Order: sequence, then structure tokens, then C-alpha cells
Amino acid sequence: MSERRYAGRVALVTGAGSGIGQAVAVQLASEGAVVVGCDVDSDGLDLTTKQIEDDGHHAIMIIADITDQADVDRVVAALPGGRIDLLANVAGIMDHFVPVTELDDALWDRVLAVNLTGPMRLCRAVIPRTRVAGAGSIVNVSSIGGLTGAVAGSAYVASKHGLIGLTRSIANLYADDGIRATAVCPGGVATGIGATAAPTVPWAYQRLERSFGRITRMAQPDEIATLICWLGSDEAVNVNGAVVTSDGGWTS
Ligand SMILES: NC(=O)c1ccc[n+]([C@@H]2O[C@H](COP(=O)([O-])OP(=O)(O)OC[C@H]3O[C@@H](n4cnc5c(N)ncnc54)[C@H](O)[C@@H]3O)[C@@H](O)[C@H]2O)c1
Repeated sequence: MSERRYAGRVALVTGAGSGIGQAVAVQLASEGAVVVGCDVDSDGLDLTTKQIEDDGHHAIMIIADITDQADVDRVVAALPGGRIDLLANVAGIMDHFVPVTELDDALWDRVLAVNLTGPMRLCRAVIPRTRVAGAGSIVNVSSIGGLTGAVAGSAYVASKHGLIGLTRSIANLYADDGIRATAVCPGGVATGIGATAAPTVPWAYQRLERSFGRITRMAQPDEIATLICWLGSDEAVNVNGAVVTSDGGWTS
């Protein structure tokens, strides 16, 4: 593995203020990328900037909500020279493990907006640029909740299954343009996502807990970031449309 796989490259990372997105931004910068990161959490972005600058690198961090088209436009407009080599759609939220019968439209709409519509808007914005360049990579962070119904509520599971569908569609339709799209499905990762993970419907959570007994280990954000950075790099040139699980064997 080269340490400077991203030298001269530009990467856009959503959710760069915490957890997996923060780890991706820091790793990409350390490998030579100009990183444009965005998040709704300005304090988190400040921490990411500090980590990157302490390592002697530079990044552009933008406070932006990926559910807002104007914010997405603003982030894409900040890409230096309009260039984009990697889009890492990492931002996401949980759904408090709410089952469909207890789900209100507001929670459904919010989870789908952050986890699926936002990533779609970013893909829609950057693919024309990568088509012109004839190369580019998109890594979408789904979840094992995108492969099974056993780990989250109905909105999260639907959003993460949808993100895998979006990934495969892009992989299929734009391969001839030199664009690769892949999805990563983490299991449990020690991050800040707990803010949207407090269970609110006890009976549903008890049923979901059956699968939690299969968790062998919690991953660290860096471990998922390493996979994302590899998938986005030229080393993964033949990997397109793949859905890669990193769950320590949880779904095995
Ligand atoms: N932590 C896990 O166990 C786990 C497991 C599977 C998948 N994932 C996925 O990994 C991704 C990263 O999550 P994490 O675990 O690092 O959580 P995290 O909460 O630490 O980071 C997610 C970041 O996304 C940001 N964000 C949320 N809504 C946003 C919006 N509308 N616009 C811009 N930024 C927004 C948050 O502010 C936060 O900084 C998510 O897509 C999540 O679904 C996490």
C-alpha cells in the first residue's frame, strides 16, 4: 500500500466532523489529498481541521447540511479547480430503532434525507465532473443495516438498503466513464452515532437485541477509514459495484 496514493487528488468527505468521516478526512489528507469536508457540526469540523493541520496538512472544512440542496451546491463549489477524484458519502444518522408501526413521517423523512437523498445529491453533483475527467471514485457508507433488517429501525434499514441500490446503479451506468462506485457496510463502530441511537420502542429493541449478541468486537473509525481510502484509490481499480462488509464477522 502506497502512503501517498492521493497525492495531487481532491476528495470530498461528508460527515467529516466525527467518527468515520473524520478518520477518512484525516487519512486522506495524510496521503496527500486536498480534502473538502462538510458537516453540520462546526465544533467537530474544527477538531478535524486541527488534527489535519497538526499533521502538517491543509483541508477545507465547510459547515453544511447535506439535506439542503443549496448547501450541497456550496460544498461542491468549494472543490479546488472544480476537481474531484473521490467522493466519500459518510454522513448518516440512526433512527432510534423505531419499527414501521411506530414511525412518524418526520423521522422517516429525516433519516431518508440524510442517509439517502443527501448522498444522491452529492453523487448527482460530482459525477458530471468525473465524467469529463474520465475518472473518479465514489464510496458510500451504508451499514450491515443495508444487508439485513436485524440491526436498526425501519427507516435506517430502508435508507441503507437504498444506498446500496444507488451505489450499484452508479457502478453499472457510469463504468464506461471511468467511474467506480462502491459501498461499505460497517457493523458496530465506536463513534458519536449514539446520539440518534437511543431506543424509544422497547419491544422492537428487545427483538433487535437478539442479533446484537453476535457482535464479536467494536471497530475503531480508523479501521473503516482504511477500507474506504483503499476502495477510493487506484489500487482498487477493478472494484466497482462491490458492497464490502467490515463487521468483524457479525453477519457471518
Ligand atoms: N457507528 C456505527 O456503528 C456504524 C455502523 C454502520 C454504519 N455506520 C454509518 O457510518 C456513517 C458515519 O457514522 P459514524 O458512526 O461515524 O457517526 P458519527 O455520528 O460519529 O458521524 C456522523 C457525522 O455525520 C454528520 N451529519 C449528520 N447529519 C448530517 C447532515 N444532514 N449533513 C452533514 N453532516 C451530517 C454528523 O454531524 C456527524 O458528524 C453513517 O452513515 C452511519 O450510518 C455507522
